[in-house]
Amino acid sequence: MATMKRLCILGIVLVISSVANADSDLVNLKYDRRDLGGQVPAGGGPVIDVSKCPGAKGDGSSDMTQVIMKAWNDACHAPSPSRLLIPAGIWLAGELEFEGPCTAPLVTVEVQGTLKGKPEAAAYPKNYQVYFSRCSFQIVGSGTIDGNGAAAQAIKKASGGKNLPDTVVAIQCPNSGVSGVKIINSKGFHLKVVECDNFKADSIAITSPETTLNTDGIHIARCKGACITNINIATGDDCISIGDAMVDLTIRNIVCAPGHGISIGSLGKFPDEKDVRNVEISNVTLVNTMYGLRIKTIHSGTALAVSNVTYSNIQCKGCGSPIIIDQHYNGGSLTRTPGDSKVRISGVTFKNMKGTTSANVVATLLCSTACGCEGINIQDVSLAYSGTDTEDKGLRTTCENAKATFTGCTIPACK
Ligand SMILES: *[C@@H]1O[C@H](CO)[C@@H](O)[C@H](O)[C@H]1NC(C)=O
Ligand SMILES: *[C@@H]1O[C@H](CO)[C@@H](O)[C@H](O)[C@H]1NC(C)=O
Repeated sequence: MATMKRLCILGIVLVISSVANADSDLVNLKYDRRDLGGQVPAGGGPVIDVSKCPGAKGDGSSDMTQVIMKAWNDACHAPSPSRLLIPAGIWLAGELEFEGPCTAPLVTVEVQGTLKGKPEAAAYPKNYQVYFSRCSFQIVGSGTIDGNGAAAQAIKKASGGKNLPDTVVAIQCPNSGVSGVKIINSKGFHLKVVECDNFKADSIAITSPETTLNTDGIHIARCKGACITNINIATGDDCISIGDAMVDLTIRNIVCAPGHGISIGSLGKFPDEKDVRNVEISNVTLVNTMYGLRIKTIHSGTALAVSNVTYSNIQCKGCGSPIIIDQHYNGGSLTRTPGDSKVRISGVTFKNMKGTTSANVVATLLCSTACGCEGINIQDVSLAYSGTDTEDKGLRTTCENAKATFTGCTIPACK
C-alpha cells in the first residue's frame, strides 16, 4: 500500500520534473502522427495502480472518475512508457478523458478488473465513456470495460433520441491498440477509432444484446494501416463498420454472432469524405446475422471511391443478405431510394463463401446509375437456403448497373 501510494506521489513528482525541464519534452509534446515509427514497447516506466491512489474504492458504486483521471495524468506525464493499472474490483466512472499530448511515448492501460460506466447517458455529456486523444496507448489485460448500457438502451428503444455514448473512443492516437479485454453492453458503439494510423485490435470480445440499437462492435475510419484480428462480436448493429478514408485495412478471424455483419459505409453523406482502399477481410464467421458483407453508400452526396476490397473465406451460418452493395442507402431497409450516389466502387472480390443463408437473395448489387460498380468478382460462393420460406427456396441475385463476374458459384449471375 505504502509503496504504491508512493508511486502515485512519484507520478506527481514526475509531472513537476517534466514541467521543470520542459524544453526537450515540449518537442515531443507537439503532436505529429509521423513522430512514432512503430509500436513502442510497454514496460520500464512507472506503474500507477488505481487501487493504491488516494480515495480509491473498487466497489462498483463509488464514483472513481476523479481518481482515475488523476492516475491518467500521472501516467501520461511520465517521462517514459508508463502503465495505468485498473486492478481487480469494479471501478465505476463517468467520462474519462484520456487526452494527450503525453510525455510518455506510450501509455498502457491494463484492465484486470471491470471499468464500469454509469447507467444514465446524461453522465456522459460529451457522448463517450473512455476517450483517448492525441496520445499513443495500448489497452491490455483480461478485464472488462462495461458500458452498462441496458437502462439507456431501454429508454432509446421506447422513445428514440440521439446517439448514446460510445464506450471506448480513440481519436488521433497513432500506433495504438486494444487487446485481451472484453468490451460489453455499450450504450452506443463499443470501440470507435478515428484518425489513428497503424491501429491494432486483437483478441478482444465484444458483447451486447442483439436487440440493442446502434451498438456497432468496432467502427473505424480515417486511419492509414489498421489490423483487426481474432475478435468475437455479438451485438445489435454492425459487428464492424468501416468509415471513409480507411486505407490499408486488414480484418481477419472474426466471429459475428449475431449482428449486422461487416459494413463499409455508409459513405457519401459528408462533404469532406475521402476514398476507402486496400481492404482485406478474411476468415469471417457470420452466425444468424441480419446482413453479411455490405458496402453502403448514400443515394446522393459526396464523390469518392471505394477500391481494392477483398473478402475471402467466409462462413455463413444462417446469415441474412450475404453479399450487398447498396448505393441507394438511406439509413434504413433495402428499399431502393432514388438518386445517384457519387461513390465509385471498383475492384471488389467476394471469394469462397460457404454455409447457409436465411435470405433468398444472396447477392444484391444495387449500383448507382451515375457511377455503376466495376470489377466486382464473385467467386466460389456456395450457400444453401436455411430460411423459413417454405415456398421459395431458390437463391437469387439482384443487380442494377453492376459489372460483375461470377465464377464457381451456386448462385445465378446478374442478368
Ligand atoms: C479462422 O477463424 C476462426 C475463428 O476466429 C479460428 O478459430 C481459425 O483458426 C481461423 N482460421 C485461420 C486459417 O486463421
Ligand atoms: C490491394 O490491397 C492489398 C491489401 O489489401 C494490397 O496488398 C495490394 O497491394 C493492393 N493493390 C493495389 C493495386 O493497390
